[in-house]
Amino acid sequence: EDLPLELHKVRVVQKLHLVPVERRLAAITEASFNTYQLSTRDIYLDMLTDSGVNAMSDNQTAAMHRADDAYAGSQSFTRLRDAVEEVLGKKYLLPVHQGRAAENVISRAFVKPGSILPMNYHFTTTLAHIMENGGKVVELLHYPDALQISSTNPFKGNMDIAALEALIARHGPAQIPFIRMEASTNLIGGQPFSIANLREVRRVADKHGILLVLDASLIGENCYFIKKREPEFKDASVGEILKVMCDLCPLVYFSARKLSSSRGGGICTNDKAIYDKLKNLVVLFEGFVTYGGISVREIESMTVGLHETTDETVISQSPSFIEYFVNEAVKRGVPMVTPPGGLGAHIDAGGILPHVPREEYQAGAFAAALYIAGAIRGMERGTVSSVRDENGKDVLADIELLRLAFPRRVFTLSQTRYALDRLHWLYLNRGLIGGLKFVEEPPVLRFFNGRLAPT
Ligand code: F0G
Repeated sequence: EDLPLELHKVRVVQKLHLVPVERRLAAITEASFNTYQLSTRDIYLDMLTDSGVNAMSDNQTAAMHRADDAYAGSQSFTRLRDAVEEVLGKKYLLPVHQGRAAENVISRAFVKPGSILPMNYHFTTTLAHIMENGGKVVELLHYPDALQISSTNPFKGNMDIAALEALIARHGPAQIPFIRMEASTNLIGGQPFSIANLREVRRVADKHGILLVLDASLIGENCYFIKKREPEFKDASVGEILKVMCDLCPLVYFSARKLSSSRGGGICTNDKAIYDKLKNLVVLFEGFVTYGGISVREIESMTVGLHETTDETVISQSPSFIEYFVNEAVKRGVPMVTPPGGLGAHIDAGGILPHVPREEYQAGAFAAALYIAGAIRGMERGTVSSVRDENGKDVLADIELLRLAFPRRVFTLSQTRYALDRLHWLYLNRGLIGGLKFVEEPPVLRFFNGRLAPT
């Protein structure tokens, strides 16, 4: 049998709560049908996100004990800076408290009212920060392939180069402060781009003198897929691919909640002028430049985690479990995003619930229903996570997905099979699921704290 293998042993454990279905129904009602509002007391498998909830290694927790507490000039920071240089190939590092903090700093530094920001695809927090500074995001995935749920395209995260050229020709490079590429493109199902594509993006960026920025939050998985799927790199190590990717991007930022640790983030570059420009914003918003709002203990765990990202036995864990889950779900007839991506398994809620109108949030409804069916918490990645247009109408998401994240090295195979069983049951009983409506809707990033009710 083709089973993914845990290449680690479990030595610290946490008790879980598999509460009865009556409690689950009450809990999701109390949570206003928004899985963000649930308490882990009521959750068996927390598959909300891979952010801040990855398993720590023995070496990471050991390193946390030697942390050097100092407001300025901490040796913990020096160790992290060295790791960033070794693993990502960038010598200037600005620590920030998480990924969106990097986006705040970068957007404030580069984005002006009227700026155009081309990217393979947006992430929720990226879009929010760019809009906050008056910029406009233009998504340049290769359509329609990238949004086809069932696909054999190995690199759905690739940018459409002709569309990029056309956009630059239309607006002129002066209006485009940077081009952003997101590794393991989150919202379309953790889908990678290829190095060949990134080289093309860089060529176009250079031709027009535009900065290329990499969101490296999910870089490890993207590099793992390159090794598996891009023939040029089949014999390269994940560490070598990481370097090639970062070398192509003069400015790299990341959320360390996904990459390397459970807290923190960073911005790195080899360009002193960019570093100096961003440094002032880091001291304004994050803290001194040798801690950036992160505790020194977490800085130590980031350092070790960065090195571990180059270890294939570590970085393969989440993608191999996701691949198993997706393949098994497809065998049971459940429509899933394929090829399997990084970060999580993505279920096509739009395809499962055609009887629920799109305005009634198919993915949100499926997320609430899967919680009731199995005490499994997933995350809505569809129109609830979108925004309203200037007339107050929902901007319908391109695809309505429920994401079941696989935090790195957290769940066992039997838990994975339990999740499959519950998903299959819910799929067979999908007629039970109705739509949702907002009863309280925050103006920004509404999916976090919004309250919904059945229609
Ligand atoms: N960029 C990407 C690609 C991300 O996936 C995230 C976070 C961020 C930036 C923001 O980082 O949360 O540390 O501020 N993604 C998480 C998720 C929240 O669940 O997908 P952050």
